[in-house]
Amino acid sequence: MSPWWTNAVIYQVYLRSFADSDGDGIGDLDGVRSRLPYLHDLGVDGIWLTPFYTSPMNDGGYDITDHRDVDPVFGTLADFDALLADAHALNLRIIIDLVPNHTSDTHPWFHSHDRRKRYIFRPGRDGGPPNDWESVFGGPAWSPAPDGDDWYLHLFDATQPDLDWHNPEVADEYADILRYWLDRGVDGVRIDVAHGLFKADGLPDVGYAGQDHRLDVLPFFDQDGVHDVYRRWRKILDSYPGDRIGVAEAWAPTADRLALYTRPDELHQAFNFPFLLAPWQAPAVRAVVDRSLAAGSSPTWVLSNHDVQRHRTRLGSAARAQAATLFMLALPGSAYLYQGEELGLPEVLDLPDEALQDPTFSRSDGADRGRDGCRIPLPWTAQAPAFGFSQTGRPWLPMPADWAELSVQAQQRRTDSTLALYRHALRLRRSFAGELAWHDAPEGVLVFSRSSLTCTTNFSDRDIAITAPGSPVLSSAPLPPIRDDGAVLIPKETCVWWQ
Ligand code: NOJ
Repeated sequence: MSPWWTNAVIYQVYLRSFADSDGDGIGDLDGVRSRLPYLHDLGVDGIWLTPFYTSPMNDGGYDITDHRDVDPVFGTLADFDALLADAHALNLRIIIDLVPNHTSDTHPWFHSHDRRKRYIFRPGRDGGPPNDWESVFGGPAWSPAPDGDDWYLHLFDATQPDLDWHNPEVADEYADILRYWLDRGVDGVRIDVAHGLFKADGLPDVGYAGQDHRLDVLPFFDQDGVHDVYRRWRKILDSYPGDRIGVAEAWAPTADRLALYTRPDELHQAFNFPFLLAPWQAPAVRAVVDRSLAAGSSPTWVLSNHDVQRHRTRLGSAARAQAATLFMLALPGSAYLYQGEELGLPEVLDLPDEALQDPTFSRSDGADRGRDGCRIPLPWTAQAPAFGFSQTGRPWLPMPADWAELSVQAQQRRTDSTLALYRHALRLRRSFAGELAWHDAPEGVLVFSRSSLTCTTNFSDRDIAITAPGSPVLSSAPLPPIRDDGAVLIPKETCVWWQ
C-alpha cells in the first residue's frame, strides 16, 4: 500500500482567519479544535496549520520570535497538544509550518552579541545597500544595521532578517526545532521558502530591477546548498514512526530544478505552483499536468493558498473554479486545499487602505495591495458582522456584508452548494486509483481516465457535445440528459466525473 501522503487531501488552515474561540477577532488553536468535526465531515485527510509560534505578527506569524512556543494570541502549548490529540482521534494528520529562511528581528539571536554570525550582515556600497537585491515584498532587500554602519539582508520584510545557513549553529538549531515538533507528534512540516536558505557566494548583483521572484534565476534562490539541509531533515523525519513528511514551498526556474527538492533522500513533496499558475486553457493545463507527472516524484496539486488570489477570482468565475477543483481532485497524487475554497469564497478586492495588514502594501508604496483579500476570516453562520467566525470580537480583517449566503450554515442546507460539491467529490475521490491516460477530445475539452473513472472538462465558453464515457457521478454544473445516440452536451466551463 502506498503511504498516506501520496494521495492525501490536505486542508490549509490559515490560523488567524479560521475560527476565533476567545473573542479577540483573531482565529486560534481552540477555534480549529472546535471545528475539527467540520473538517472530518468535509472529508480531508489532514491539515496544514500556518505558523502559531510567538511572533510580533508583522508577516502573519512568518516572523518568528520563539520556534518552540505558541503565541498567546493563538493559545498555549497545551492547546496545541489538545488539538493534535483530537485531530489524531479523528484520523486527521497535522502538518505544521517550519520557517528556516529568516526569523523575526525580535528573535533573541538578532539581539545577541554574535548576531553577525547568525544573520547576513555586509558593508554597504557607495552609501547604499551591499547589492541590488530586491525584497519579495518590494523595496531593497537590505536595511541598515541597528547597531553599526553595515547592512543586514531580508528577502521579505525588514523585520524578517535572513539567517546565515553557512553557520552550523543555525543548521543544528533547526534540526533541533524539527525534532522538538516531531517529538510532540506532528505528522509533517511544510517548509517555508525552502529554496531560499543559501545565497550565491559573494552575493553578486542580479543586474536588473523588477526581479521576478518566482521564475527568474536569482543568486538568492534555489542554490545547490539547500539540498544538503533537506537530506539531513529527511533522515530525521525517517527516524520517526508513522510516515512523517516534509513539503517544500519552493520556487525554481524550471521543472527539473524543482524536482531536485523531492529526490528520494530529500523532501516528500513540493507544492505544484506551475499548476496553480496555469491559465484556464485546455492545452496549457494538459501540458502542466504532463510535466508534473513526468517529474517522477509524488505529484501534488494546488489552486489556492494564503499568498495568491483565490482561484474563484483568479480564474474568472465560480463555474470555472468548481470545474478546476473537480479536475484537480480527479488527478493522481495529493491535493492541497485552502480554507474557504470549499465555500467558493472570492478574493475580497475592495478592502479599504486602512484595513490592509500585509507588509507588501506598505513596502511597495501601495503599488501591490497585498494578500489580505484571500485571508478574510471564514463565514461559519449567516449572522453579520462576524458570521460566527468570532462570537464577540471584530474580525481582524473586515468581512463583506453579503457573505451570509456563502456561510457554512447556509451552504449546509443546500444540496447544490459549493460545499456540497466538495464533500461529495472528496468522498468519491477515495476510491480513485491508477495512472492517468488521456483520451482524444474536441478542442477546448480534456478527457482522461484512471481505472474506472473518466474525467471530462470543458474549458471553453460554449457547450460541447462528446460521447458519454459512462454514467455521470458528479458534475460541477447541471448536466443535460445523455441523448439516445450516446452523445452528451458538456456545459461550458464544467467538469464531469463518470464511472
Ligand atoms: C511564504 C509564506 O507562505 C508567506 O505567507 C510569507 O510571507 C513568506 N513565505 C515569508 O515567510
